[in-house]
Amino acid sequence: SRSINLAVIPGDGIGQEVVAEGLKVLSAVLPQDVKLETKEYDFGAKRYHATGETLTDADLDALKQHDAILLGAIGDPAVPSGVLERGFLLKLRFAFDHHVNLRPSKLLPGVATPLAGEPQIDFVVVREGTEGPYTGNGGTIRKGTEHEVATEVSVNTAFGVERVVRDAFARAQARPRKKLTLVHKNNVLTFAGHLWTNIFNKVAEEFPEVTTDYIHVDAATIYLVTDPARFDVIVTDNLFGDIITDLAAAVSGGIGVAASGNINPAGEFPSMFEPVHGSAPDIAGQGKADPSATVLSVALLLRHLGYEAEAARIEDAVSADLADRTGKPARSTSEIGDALSVRVAG
Ligand code: IPM
Ligand code: MN
Repeated sequence: SRSINLAVIPGDGIGQEVVAEGLKVLSAVLPQDVKLETKEYDFGAKRYHATGETLTDADLDALKQHDAILLGAIGDPAVPSGVLERGFLLKLRFAFDHHVNLRPSKLLPGVATPLAGEPQIDFVVVREGTEGPYTGNGGTIRKGTEHEVATEVSVNTAFGVERVVRDAFARAQARPRKKLTLVHKNNVLTFAGHLWTNIFNKVAEEFPEVTTDYIHVDAATIYLVTDPARFDVIVTDNLFGDIITDLAAAVSGGIGVAASGNINPAGEFPSMFEPVHGSAPDIAGQGKADPSATVLSVALLLRHLGYEAEAARIEDAVSADLADRTGKPARSTSEIGDALSVRVAG
């Protein structure tokens, strides 16, 4: 019989609330014969304050035993900036080789967008997740003086670029429009830019059905606002991907609905699924957070584990729930979770 052994990391702030709803919907959507086992981990600000630890080697060994990880949000104003980001989130992405950071953007019916007209938005960003300027490869000299120099080196390997580009081509190939856009800045970042462009063009030969395009990242931010319909699949580096996926979330319904997967495609390590939003301490504990982004992340998780029908049921349920909101009073986090659970079961 089938089973899912899930690591659950609610984390800080609204992470706790939205993950509870994600699990509720997950239990509701799974067929009877699938055994769901969950183990909760207490990573985040509380553990850091209590022990000074963010994520130990023993923690990584424990997490490795799971089929996948569901994460709420990590972050707290009382923890210095960078400690949890580097010590938890990036450490986990690097340790588990999450080189495909998958961030779909779809403007669903009834969802408000700041864009004019009725834009067609249905694309997915494949953001490289383990290289670029995120590697911590840099340094400072003459620190604290007027002559301080800081470097932050972007690391791009042929191996790392090729595997994420190939993954993006395969995803484009599987979609109806079969279009892949490389986003970079190869007119200025000529070393990394040429590596990306050359590998992109080389891999393109293996995917003759996929239409390809190249756009500089600055121009891409314009098109994401003026003509988002031109995008189907985008592949880009870690930092450009970080920035354009926040913009993508903003134009397609906001971070209340933006889901993401930190994926190790070969399954050597568990992949991790999380809403794009943070811990939102300002509204934490009030039942105000929209759990939709987490629930959609659960759909990505299920698809990654091979439960395509269940993933699609969740996406349909969220879509129907959003379409149904107009003119109705706001619901609490758990009321939305309950409504989605009913929809996926029905
Ligand atoms: C994200 C976040 C992280 C990133 C931060 C918190 C390290 O912004 O998941 O997009 O930059 O990748
Ligand atoms: Mn980000």
